Amino acid sequence: MQSIHQDFSVEFSYDVHFTTGLFQPKNKLLTDAVADPEEPMPKKMVAVLDKGLLAHHEDLPDQIETYAKAHDDTLTLAASPIVVPGGEAAKNDPDLVNHIHQVIYETRLDRHAYVLAVGGGAVLDLAGYAAGTAHRGIRLIRVPTTVLSQNDSGVGVKNGINAFDTKNFLGTFEPPDAVLNDLSFLRTLDDRDWRAGISEAIKVGLLKDADFFNYLCDHASALAPPTRDLEAMTHVVYRCAELHLDHIATSGDPFEKGSSRPLDFGHWAAHKLEELTDYTLRHGEAVAIGIALDCAYSHLTGHLSSEALDRILDLTAALGFDLYVPEMDAHLDTPDHPDCLFQGLDSFREHLGGELTIMLLNAIGEGIEVHSVDRDRYRDAVALLRRQHAERVEQDLSETAS
Ligand SMILES: NC(=O)c1ccc[n+]([C@@H]2O[C@H](COP(=O)([O-])OP(=O)(O)OC[C@H]3O[C@@H](n4cnc5c(N)ncnc54)[C@H](O)[C@@H]3O)[C@@H](O)[C@H]2O)c1
Ligand SMILES: [Zn+2]
Repeated sequence: MQSIHQDFSVEFSYDVHFTTGLFQPKNKLLTDAVADPEEPMPKKMVAVLDKGLLAHHEDLPDQIETYAKAHDDTLTLAASPIVVPGGEAAKNDPDLVNHIHQVIYETRLDRHAYVLAVGGGAVLDLAGYAAGTAHRGIRLIRVPTTVLSQNDSGVGVKNGINAFDTKNFLGTFEPPDAVLNDLSFLRTLDDRDWRAGISEAIKVGLLKDADFFNYLCDHASALAPPTRDLEAMTHVVYRCAELHLDHIATSGDPFEKGSSRPLDFGHWAAHKLEELTDYTLRHGEAVAIGIALDCAYSHLTGHLSSEALDRILDLTAALGFDLYVPEMDAHLDTPDHPDCLFQGLDSFREHLGGELTIMLLNAIGEGIEVHSVDRDRYRDAVALLRRQHAERVEQDLSETAS
């Protein structure tokens, strides 16, 4: 019998909005995101909230309930908001997925109803995964509340949780229905989380937009704690989100079927370092180290000029990133040791399948993919970062002493 060839395509579209005061009743972004004259109203919704966010915004559950009451012709909360731990703990506990599924089940949310996920990238990943797997996918509105989630993780098409000690082992590709970035949430971030998300902006600047990288250099002291200029950060979040969205739309591989994942520049080491440090390093902090490492390696293998490398390392230093942790070289000479940084290369390849594909840098604004690496040069790159770190510590000590 002749084979039947199946061929169809599905179009996705969603808006990423930027606002402040998202849950003030007069702000219509959320109601506009769910209102549809073609569908029965009001829409059922369950909110999943980040506990770490609530520590700074205690009245958020009440605000959301008041908002829903003010717009009860458009949306109705089917249950009290579900509060989950913030940070990586959200992705490490399968009971949390189960709990969200249970609420979705008990409140009879259907595929036209919404999960409203409010929080950092970890909580968005958890809530998105739960939404994406209930009824094979119910609708999702993300409200990212950290720099990293507003400029990167929350605007894209992926969700995931950790399992079997492996980051993002379980996950879905599930574009959101809308992303509502409320920039005023960023004010309450601690300095580490404020800074961490800037590393994803450095990443896309280095790969895709030298002018944006220059902007980051020019505004480094305004962006860095303690100044934390919200206007400069607003530009950083907006442009970084725009570059990520543009990549997803135009790369030809939004659901990462191929072996190449350019936006994961610096991430093979970052994911391994997050794991090796028991997630005491924030994702963005690990990414800053991963970027520095891959840039140092790019230089040592003749791709990137020393001037460009210096600019990159100066920018990360000016922002206050620390580019060395002892876990980086603890087992570097025994690549088969499970705690060796190089195991990150294998996990990276396994996660994608296919050929190892690592993005390096030819110049600021220009990446280059390679399919094999020279581990000795990577050891040299680690040594370079270790030396720089030691020099900085010494300098800080002598400044404190004088
Ligand atoms: N799905 C993707 O495409 C994708 C991409 C990149 C990263 N990620 C994931 O995102 C996660 C990291 O996200 P993150 O950097 O947003 O950190 P996070 O989610 O770990 O949050 C950091 C901390 O900030 C708290 N918090 C959140 N909003 C706050 C606010 N406005 N004020 C004060 N505290 C607040 C949280 O409770 C948490 O303690 C990682 O798990 C990473 O793997 C996912
Ligand atoms: Zn990242």
